[in-house]
Amino acid sequence: MKKSIFIKRRKALSKKLTDQSFVLFASGQAKHKSLDQNFKYFPNRNFYFLTGLKRENFILLLARNKLANLEYIFIEEPSDFAAKWLGKRMTKAEVSEVSGINEKHIHYLKDFDEFLGNKFLLDSRNLLLDKVPKYIYLDMFRTKYMKKPISLEFFGKVLENYPELTIEDINKIVSDIRRVKSISEVEEIKKAIEYTKKGIYSILDYAKPKINERELEATFEYNIKLAGSSGMAFDTIVASGKNATVLHYTENDQIINDNELVLLDLGAYSNEYPGDISRTFPINGKFTKKQKQYYQMVLDVNKETIKQVKPGIYVKELNDFAKDKLAEGLIKLNIIKDKSEISKYYYHGVSHYLGLDVHDVGTYSKKIEPGVVLTVEPGIYIEEEKIGIRIEDDILVTEDGYENLSKDIIKEIDDIEEYMNK
Ligand code: GLY
Ligand code: MN
Ligand code: MN
Repeated sequence: MKKSIFIKRRKALSKKLTDQSFVLFASGQAKHKSLDQNFKYFPNRNFYFLTGLKRENFILLLARNKLANLEYIFIEEPSDFAAKWLGKRMTKAEVSEVSGINEKHIHYLKDFDEFLGNKFLLDSRNLLLDKVPKYIYLDMFRTKYMKKPISLEFFGKVLENYPELTIEDINKIVSDIRRVKSISEVEEIKKAIEYTKKGIYSILDYAKPKINERELEATFEYNIKLAGSSGMAFDTIVASGKNATVLHYTENDQIINDNELVLLDLGAYSNEYPGDISRTFPINGKFTKKQKQYYQMVLDVNKETIKQVKPGIYVKELNDFAKDKLAEGLIKLNIIKDKSEISKYYYHGVSHYLGLDVHDVGTYSKKIEPGVVLTVEPGIYIEEEKIGIRIEDDILVTEDGYENLSKDIIKEIDDIEEYMNK
């Protein structure tokens, strides 16, 4: 993406800051895995959204005064040692080229504390803001398993040194901006879906009874990477038979028996943006009569729910609609007698936002609007029949309705059978 995009995003964010405040964002660090190994570094989404940078340990500082948006970035200092062990560090010029932050405002991390102390907060004569800041915005996101937000830990020293600052949460403000996608973001999602599509078709080409689920996972990964994707946006699900009734099945290590359905839930990345697609198909290329009935019912709900997407509705309306239609379908198929029994066979939401995060940020208490990208993914999971079916598409909300970004990925029964038996 062009640096003008990141400049624009930072401006939009700065406009939402209160007077006498500044924001700190950290790019994050690789998490420890075991002994001397770390997991691969995963760029902090908000940091990437605002800078286009995918480097560990960087700090972004944004503030606003009456005259200008102030933006500074603190980066790792290049060294021979780092270059030999970890790879070349980015130069200030390179950081500026990607992010659009003025090179004069790019400093090394070792100067961060001093910068905050001398230039920014304390020395009111040499002040960058026109008044001493009162508020510090940090990303206060935390999961229920975290004692406190990572930012509080990471910027603990700043907070200790300046106890007079009031902490505000920047997370909701950035999330609100990220919720509605720009044209360039939608372009990335389209590319990600195109890679995902190639991977899915390669799976259908490879599929035959008695192979291991992991062969299909490997086929997907190989082919999306050959196509140009950096890799998988989340743990691929290749779930055959009964495994498909476990929503987050990722072991992918069982033999696929003849006559079984295989549920795929997978997505490739394009420049940090994911596709998120589910397809279900018979491993031997031919649906049984019963599989056909179940599959067609889910497919109908998928298509009808997609048709409901338009500006001005709530995601909850999609959820309620799909749940009701699935219940109707299961009654017709004699699997349940009453709609109240639906949660035995369908136990997730039908939709979530899609963006830099696969389950993307943003409130669901606002109506959807043009630029929002969301999934539509009805499913049924009937353990006693060893059948799990989910059909998931990625949908862009447009001015007058929707665009199905994944409409070219095969999902009709006849098309799947014809393709697999060609
Ligand atoms: N792949 C996760 C989901 O569909 O939400
Ligand atoms: Mn999915
Ligand atoms: Mn999804």
